Amino acid sequence: MGEEFRIIGKSLPRFDGPVKVAGESRFLADIDIPDCWVGGVVRSDTPRGLLKGIRTLPAFEETGAVLVTAADIPGENCVAIVRRDYPALAAPDINYATQALALVAAPDRERLARAAAAVEVDIEPLPPIFTVEESEARKELIWGEDNLIDHYRTERGELEKGFAEADMVVEGEWETGLQEQLYLETQGMAAWRSGDGIELLGSMQCPFYVVNAVSVALGLPHEKVTVRQSVTGGAFGGKEDYPSILGVYAALLAWKSGRKVKMIYERSEDLLVSPKRHPSKSRYRMGLTKEGKITALDVDIRLDAGAYTTLSRVVLQRTHLHAAGCYYVPNIRIESRAWATNTPPNGAFRGFGAPQAIFAMERTMDLAAERLGIDPLDIRLLNTIKHGDRFPYGQIMREGNNAEAVLLKAAELSDYRRRRELLSHQGGGRLRRGIGISLGLHGGGFTGSGEEKMGTTAKVTFDGEKFRIYTSSTEMGQGASTVLPMVAAEALGAELEDVLYIEPDSSRTPNTGPTVASRTTMYAGKAVQDACENLKKMIENGGAPLAGKALTEAAKKYLRDNGRAEALGYNIFTDGQSWDEENFTGDAYHGYAWIANAVEIELDMDSYEATPRFAAIAAEVGRAINPMQAKAQLTGGVLQAFGWAHIEDLKVDANGRYTAAHMNAYMAPTTLDTPEWKVELLEDPCPAGCYGAKGLGELPCDAGAAAFVAAIDHAAQIFSHCAPMTGEKIFEAIEKRDNGGE
Ligand code: MOS
Repeated sequence: MGEEFRIIGKSLPRFDGPVKVAGESRFLADIDIPDCWVGGVVRSDTPRGLLKGIRTLPAFEETGAVLVTAADIPGENCVAIVRRDYPALAAPDINYATQALALVAAPDRERLARAAAAVEVDIEPLPPIFTVEESEARKELIWGEDNLIDHYRTERGELEKGFAEADMVVEGEWETGLQEQLYLETQGMAAWRSGDGIELLGSMQCPFYVVNAVSVALGLPHEKVTVRQSVTGGAFGGKEDYPSILGVYAALLAWKSGRKVKMIYERSEDLLVSPKRHPSKSRYRMGLTKEGKITALDVDIRLDAGAYTTLSRVVLQRTHLHAAGCYYVPNIRIESRAWATNTPPNGAFRGFGAPQAIFAMERTMDLAAERLGIDPLDIRLLNTIKHGDRFPYGQIMREGNNAEAVLLKAAELSDYRRRRELLSHQGGGRLRRGIGISLGLHGGGFTGSGEEKMGTTAKVTFDGEKFRIYTSSTEMGQGASTVLPMVAAEALGAELEDVLYIEPDSSRTPNTGPTVASRTTMYAGKAVQDACENLKKMIENGGAPLAGKALTEAAKKYLRDNGRAEALGYNIFTDGQSWDEENFTGDAYHGYAWIANAVEIELDMDSYEATPRFAAIAAEVGRAINPMQAKAQLTGGVLQAFGWAHIEDLKVDANGRYTAAHMNAYMAPTTLDTPEWKVELLEDPCPAGCYGAKGLGELPCDAGAAAFVAAIDHAAQIFSHCAPMTGEKIFEAIEKRDNGGE
């Protein structure tokens, strides 16, 4: 590979790197907007209740502040995301602590604080429910008629026959916790009236999601809402839905006050109100032959959605579709449900529902291996899904045997067999080592027919000097502003320095879809490629192919002759796949990326702290457009998975608030917790993806936790059922084992 491309496949440093490293990037907080007011939110301290009234004390008037309540909302009182069940401001039902009740804008922070303190709310409390069990039991009805936000069911083969054929049945209950994205800069949005419309600027992933939400809340047509992205130093899914919420708040304040209004959260407010990874509880019952071949699998997964739908439906879809992981299961039933609780709505976090399912499936494989006395690597190798096999939802696997390939590669990179054997016989010192291995996959792009329906569009122009790429694909630290120009330069035959990535602005960039679902390189890239090929054809006008400076010269002539040089491009599918939305069956994704992790940890038997010392990552990514950046994505995401596996411990307290309100109460891995990495990329090009690329952004969060927990188990000689497997839990498991428990 490689030779057929000029630019694709080159390991180039990120184009936005130098500015960011030098501290010269201007985040929203660095941008001085003249005469700008500041906005804030009056929140509920009660997890469930009825809002009886809001009034301002005389001190409010003295500040000159402006108050917005539900009655002031010109359009619909909701933040439109997947459904319209989430009110912008509670009226009258309050369903979680920190829910927004009213908004305040004031000329400065000091007056904002005084004004907000002078708003009194009258709430009649109601009994809250905080767990999926209480929600399931309908202890209280808090959402719809039954608290059930969404439900999917899949059956394939004959489950009972499959269990009858089994020599052994294993059953495990698995639990995963909340996780906070901890992006670089906190959520922030500025808004101001412009003519008879409104403009917004802020940190975000998806400009057109914000356009839609603001247009619904203000009752304005889409074209009256302009949304621009400010520099975004990280998101990890945390800026997929929340900017719609904050955008609606800022827009409502700007609309009523007639002022420019900026809202930037302090870290503690951000931690308390922003969406987290959905906690999950699942039950896996698996039948196997004595050789270790899976004959049947019965899965029940429950996600805690929090108080409103936000993205839970689509997160649950991904959980459901990734429930059997990378394995072929002939007889299967999968039930998945998202339940409402009186906690802040959970949302997108890199992996988007897949990590919860893959953790459970991988742990079930480990449990089966232990019961059968087979090595965890061997039981996996025996069951990986192969070319021609069916996924539970009916899709036929058309790719090469990539699950097996990455697994073998990770085992080789980590010297897995030798280390596993060696560490199984180590002494009982204070520092003990363990090694674990896991396997994961990630369907790239939107689920089902989402990609076809979206109409992904990109635009490229020539401005007389440079080619400019217009998309709604945001740079958020993941490398879009490096990779998209690489794709464009390749497709045009242009020099890289002659291509510019343009920051998304809904008034001048086409809708390339949201920057989510690992779809940017794979699908937005494909639209950029198409636009560039179209422009190139126009410039070459039937003549010989041009490249480099000759192309630029021809582009200049084309511009002089025609007055403008621009072309649109689309993400067009020709792979004949189909998806049945009603029955939730068929070709769920156009390409799957695959990952295997092997991690060796050191467990301190005094503190029960586990430190990763060495980690191997083998990932099949279709085509690595920029291998160095692909590897950086992989190590970063796997480290997040390790954090989720052990130290990122977040709960909801008795008042329905998160237990961490500051970064000192929320431990997450830093570079000091980083192991020595060995990363290898495998490439099985995907026909649907840009130059064969598959989505890899989320893949590294999918499987790492299972490997990390397996390594803890290996070191401590326990068997873990949850993530995070904190030091306390390791201690408890050892105590339980030594006192005759499991
Ligand atoms: Mo994502 S977790 O699809 O922003």
